[in-house]
Amino acid sequence: MLNSILTSKITKVVVFAACLVPLALLIWQVLPGTLADPIAFITHRTGDWTLRFLVITLAITPLRKLLHLPQLIRFRRMMGLFAFFYVCLHFTTWIWLDHNFAWAELWKDVLKRPFITLGFTGFVLLIPLAVTSTAGWIRRMGGRRWQVLHRLVYVTAVLGVIHYYWLVKSDVRKPVFYGALVAILLAWRLGDWLIRRRGKAAAVPTQRKEPVTAETA
Ligand code: HEM
Repeated sequence: MLNSILTSKITKVVVFAACLVPLALLIWQVLPGTLADPIAFITHRTGDWTLRFLVITLAITPLRKLLHLPQLIRFRRMMGLFAFFYVCLHFTTWIWLDHNFAWAELWKDVLKRPFITLGFTGFVLLIPLAVTSTAGWIRRMGGRRWQVLHRLVYVTAVLGVIHYYWLVKSDVRKPVFYGALVAILLAWRLGDWLIRRRGKAAAVPTQRKEPVTAETA
């Protein structure tokens, strides 16, 4: 039942529209011009949503396995691309609204302020993932190499959390919360990988022992 809802085109359109709600709300809140510091507001909101979409992207694989919902995979690319979309808005806010394209100043910030260095690195690492997110690129690169490249999203999520942790001045509860989520999701992957590796190692001798006969061929 749930799997058939997940395969429906309408669900994909609804989820896509839902992912744009944070942007719509942001525009709604900024446009009246009543905010004390709209640039900080936009930076914070887009940063928050980048991290949330990264966490959602990382959660898809564990959830599809734990809940037996293989069709959830249909949403992973969309979630990853929305993380990229929001980080592009976040980055654009910084270079345009915050620094008005003062390139020398921007580079100084990237090199001198560790939390900017990490955010910037996380953003740069997402670019090849967004570029190669199409079926054509998976074919061209080969599934295995594509998967290895796309593990960079783990690095970006960790960098995003540290970026957040370093920029908050006193109350670290939110970055610690995101950090715990990312840690759980990465630990789940490690556990899953170890179990599969052990499974494969156990299967190899059994396969070798079994003679290939007309029935087993
Ligand atoms: C994947 C990459 C990134 C993630 C996940 C991320 C996430 C975040 C988050 C969660 C916040 C805090 C939001 C809040 O306070 O509620 C934030 C703030 C900020 N981020 Fe990012 N960010 C990323 C990349 C970048 C990049 C590339 C830049 C600029 C080069 C940048 C510059 C900033 C700035 C200037 C702030 C506000 C700092 C302050 O309040 O003093 N971030 N980011």
